[in-house]
Amino acid sequence: MEKKVVLTGIKATGRPHVGNYIGAIKPALQLAGETGYSPYYFIADYHSLTTVQDAGQFKDYVYGIAASWLALGLDPEKTTFYRQADVPEIMELSWILSCLTPKGLMNRAHAYKGAVDQNLQNNLDQDAGINIGVYSYPILMASDILLFQSDIVPVGKDQIQHVEIARDIAAHFNRVFGETFPLPQYKVDTATAVVPGLDGRKMSKSYNNTIPLFCEEKELKKLIKRIVTDSTPPQEPKDPDRSSLFLIYREFASENEVAQMRNSYQSGIGWGEVKQELFQVMNKHLEQPRHRYKELMDTPREIDEILRYGAEKARHKARPFLKEIKEKIGYSG
Ligand code: ADP
Ligand code: TRP
Repeated sequence: MEKKVVLTGIKATGRPHVGNYIGAIKPALQLAGETGYSPYYFIADYHSLTTVQDAGQFKDYVYGIAASWLALGLDPEKTTFYRQADVPEIMELSWILSCLTPKGLMNRAHAYKGAVDQNLQNNLDQDAGINIGVYSYPILMASDILLFQSDIVPVGKDQIQHVEIARDIAAHFNRVFGETFPLPQYKVDTATAVVPGLDGRKMSKSYNNTIPLFCEEKELKKLIKRIVTDSTPPQEPKDPDRSSLFLIYREFASENEVAQMRNSYQSGIGWGEVKQELFQVMNKHLEQPRHRYKELMDTPREIDEILRYGAEKARHKARPFLKEIKEKIGYSG
């Protein structure tokens, strides 16, 4: 049976945090390990350029994201792992798709619409500070997805609309030029709830409430201590399913440990003690990847090499397909 192409892009806009790990990295690595899938995971660096416009920072984020995935076990032999900018075929297809995308579809894309709404609320011109990259972002994303004939696209909830746009563009192209692209399906992991941050809101770079995945041990301990809890006295029973600490604990501990912790909650355990246990399991789980992450960050050439290898593999698939697409639109070179 032919393997299903599973593809996802990871934007490089900051150092990854525990929310990214639980919500995106961990499930994607699990999927990549299953048989029946051919995984394509890439660093969406051209997508980051819409907001990250400092060369030093851009480079640091790209290496940081690449090193994180590799340190957490991504196998570049089994997964095609590349940097978007290393595959110029994506940009070429992006233009072709732009010409098949109604402008109205982009007006309705939520990132652009959100930015417009905010401008209007602040009594500014509706397009103030919005670059064309933000506006046509979903077309580049459609290109990422369609060039590799993706079947499944694992994403967070906020990206569902973008995958639907990719489907619309694909279907439109197929109608105009004949059957070319399979229609991609998004996959949202509902098993992992939204990971709360230090203040109890969704953990996010934008809220400054994150636990960086590879912070030093001391920092990790300090941050865990800062996670907000309520004032239930230590000896009183607590509901594990309504506790931020438990939600994170569950993702790092063994089945046995989780069952034990559940019991402790029900019979009464102090928050201080839960935090101590959480630190233990997280630190144990992250110790080795943290070490590998540092090693990779100290030798960016190693990262470059891995990404170049991935780009070779990606282009091997992309080149002939792009040629086929170009022939469909009437290019004969
Ligand atoms: P941030 O909100 O910090 O900017 P991104 O938007 O870059 O994070 O998210 C990258 C990936 O991580 C997405 O797939 C997103 O769904 C996932 N993710 C981010 N924050 C969380 C969270 N708190 N809980 C679960 N998943 C998350
Ligand atoms: N837009 C996605 C995000 O903000 C990143 C991304 C770019 C992506 N290209 C993609 C995700 C293709 C899935 C498939 O998180």
